[in-house]
Amino acid sequence: MTRRLGTFYGIGVGSGDPELMTVKAARILKEVDVIFTAASTKNDYSTALEIARPHIPETVEIISLPFRMTLKHTVRKQAREENARKVLPVLREGKDAAFLTLGDPLTYSTFSYLAQALRELEPDISIRAIPGITSYQAAASRLLVPLCEGEESLLVLSGAMGGKSLRKLAGDVDNIVMLKTYKNFDHILKTLKELNLAEHTIGISRCGLEGEEIIHDVSRFNGRHPPYFTLLIIKPKGFD
Ligand SMILES: C[S@@+](CC[C@H](N)C(=O)[O-])C[C@H]1O[C@@H](n2cnc3c(N)ncnc32)[C@H](O)[C@@H]1O
Repeated sequence: MTRRLGTFYGIGVGSGDPELMTVKAARILKEVDVIFTAASTKNDYSTALEIARPHIPETVEIISLPFRMTLKHTVRKQAREENARKVLPVLREGKDAAFLTLGDPLTYSTFSYLAQALRELEPDISIRAIPGITSYQAAASRLLVPLCEGEESLLVLSGAMGGKSLRKLAGDVDNIVMLKTYKNFDHILKTLKELNLAEHTIGISRCGLEGEEIIHDVSRFNGRHPPYFTLLIIKPKGFD
């Protein structure tokens, strides 16, 4: 008799406050057999796990999957495939498993890549995503800044490659959110200044986490990296 394949859930845990997880995410974390977390190759620490911890039964098995923080496509692809091969045997045993992601699982998250790698290995696999409150939604609430109103537009950008896409796309939008700012912050800052947007930008680091900081003057990170958990909200027409 062939065994039922378990379901693989991508769970969005929100950006910091465990109370900002959905009721559905909390319920599924109590029901699954195994919880996978993403960790760097340097240590096992997972911020997503710490956020979700109050919702996780002590008895559940937790397995850390190493993902290297690199922009190299081949290295990242290899890590996804290796990690998918660790998840699959669990699902083949008929166990349900969750993969924790910060914020939302389909917004700049490893989950979508891992889900694709799993589907390539086992096309019939059952995969579900449980949405989470993104870091920028949590930041907008923390700062009490509307992300968009009326007919306004909202652009969500990655700053991993610096300010290039900001320069290309900023011209015609009302509100911009930039994630993944820490690595190339100097280039982002230079671009903000050249586009006269530095004074129309608010940053927030570690929103909802210990050490949270609101950055009103982004220039102060000139020549330095802000923390990894830093995002920018940019209002080209200014904040009210
Ligand atoms: C790989 S992306 C993950 C985005 C996440 N899936 C979401 O829905 O917000 C990581 C980036 O999200 C932003 N981020 C995540 N959590 C944050 C927090 N608590 N405070 C500020 N920025 C955060 C930072 O820009 C960080 O570099």
